[in-house]
Amino acid sequence: RLDQAMATAEKMNPEDLLCSYKGVLYPVTHCSAETFKALESFEARSDDVLLVGYPKTGTNWIIHILRDLVTTSDEEIVEYTYLEFGDPGKFQRIKNLSSRRVFATHIFPHMLPTSIFKNNVKILMVIRNPKDIAVSYFHFSNSMPSLPSFQTWDEFFNAFLNGKVSWGSYFDYIIEWNKHFDDENIMFITYEELKENPNLGVKKIAEFFGFSVTDEESQAVADRSSFQTMKENSHKTHGAFGNVLFRKGSVSDWKNLFTEAQNQEMDKKFEES
Ligand code: A3P
Repeated sequence: RLDQAMATAEKMNPEDLLCSYKGVLYPVTHCSAETFKALESFEARSDDVLLVGYPKTGTNWIIHILRDLVTTSDEEIVEYTYLEFGDPGKFQRIKNLSSRRVFATHIFPHMLPTSIFKNNVKILMVIRNPKDIAVSYFHFSNSMPSLPSFQTWDEFFNAFLNGKVSWGSYFDYIIEWNKHFDDENIMFITYEELKENPNLGVKKIAEFFGFSVTDEESQAVADRSSFQTMKENSHKTHGAFGNVLFRKGSVSDWKNLFTEAQNQEMDKKFEES
């Protein structure tokens, strides 16, 4: 699916790659107004598993963990869907999937279907140091045909700070999700804590969603989702662009690109948010 989208994007003019929906930019190869409209009436189930996170926070990593936890037999690992991706017809297919379904999304909470909150769907939110997100997003934008590329890091930095990137402003996104901080059905996890102690992170995630795992099982889930393993399998799991999704997988890579002035500017922006 990703390969198909990239093949389409490669034939497009750079200025046509993004569309704006309700004031936020999205890549046209993945998102459309029709799908956003259809999403509004999507019926979430109370046992759905939902991961939310701004792009480049490590969503592919945690989706892998969630799918692994949901998969109970030796059958093929359960599928997953990004709520806002693809054509609107997908919702009909999703309706027929058996529980527990796994979803992910990068969108703002006000864009989510009301059924998610009405049915108290459990939401796992992943957060990551925005400086590392920005660096990851910069490399990603310059490697994926579906996103406009940037001549320089400085150019990307300014676009990121001003929310002129796909899925909108990181800062607005965090402000909006922060209002859900005390919601009972939301758990927050940081990329950094998961990286530092994957076994403990997996255990916390499993407990939140009500999966019972032994220490050995959580360790096995953590091992199967290690950066090395996921990178090695990326061609098989994510196609030709898999290696772009699993780039470096480290903490504090921002120090290789940020100038001191940019570091201070981002700190200031974060404090103001
Ligand atoms: P880097 O570009 O800093 O390497 P997303 O999945 O939300 O697009 O996020 C991508 C980021 O998560 C990339 O960051 C990627 O390398 C990192 N990542 C993916 N899988 C990972 C894993 N198993 N462990 C640690 N980081 C991972």
